[in-house]
Amino acid sequence: MKLLDLYCCQGGATRGYQAAGFHVTGVDLDDQPRYCGDDFWQSDALGFLTVHRDWILAEIDFIHASPPCQFDSDCQRIMDNEHPDLIEPTREALDDLGLPYVIENVRGALPKLKGPVELCGLMFGMTRTYRHRYFEAGGWVLPQPHHPKHEAPQAKMGRPPRDGEFIQAVGNFSGVRLVRTDWGVDWMNRDGIREAIPPAYSQYVAEQFLAWRAIGDAA
Ligand SMILES: C[S@@+](CC[C@H](N)C(=O)[O-])C[C@H]1O[C@@H](n2cnc3c(N)ncnc32)[C@H](O)[C@@H]1O
Repeated sequence: MKLLDLYCCQGGATRGYQAAGFHVTGVDLDDQPRYCGDDFWQSDALGFLTVHRDWILAEIDFIHASPPCQFDSDCQRIMDNEHPDLIEPTREALDDLGLPYVIENVRGALPKLKGPVELCGLMFGMTRTYRHRYFEAGGWVLPQPHHPKHEAPQAKMGRPPRDGEFIQAVGNFSGVRLVRTDWGVDWMNRDGIREAIPPAYSQYVAEQFLAWRAIGDAA
């Protein structure tokens, strides 16, 4: 199975798809020397979909897209920073291609996501991470897993996590080594981690997609 990871950064999502057996091609506007995928193109994501349309339709089974979330994050809004909103243009381009996809984003983008499924580190046995992220499935159905109750406190932003506290991997957070262990992302630096989803999330998406496809093939 072959997958396109749009807005791939250092490859948090990519690694989960690889763990489920996918060959992953990443696309990012910036060079990503730490990217962990199988192939990489430095390009604008939407331009890539247009220019390589025939290749994508011939070769790719599934598309993951994590448009940059700064537009929807609270701190950026407070600072009045301007970032392009790429969620809707990305959905339009993916619907036009007609391949199954997920669009992943942060809580601030929830009003723009259709039928989002919420994923949390507790769903995957992670011991220091909540990190809620939201997934819109296009052309297939992604089930919502049970969400265990949060018991542990989160470390306050800007100070190292104490024993038993969960980590908030945002901004210039402390605890890069803890995150690398909890998420299984030993190739990433702080810049990559703060942008990433834990690979367990995309591995779940991949496994659900494969199960959905198997049911379709059997019918
Ligand atoms: C939130 S990060 C993606 C994180 C990734 N899904 C992961 O799990 O590691 C968004 C990425 O989009 C890239 N980006 C921003 N604008 C872009 C564009 N127009 N085309 C392609 N990539 C873009 C940024 O360089 C950044 O690496």
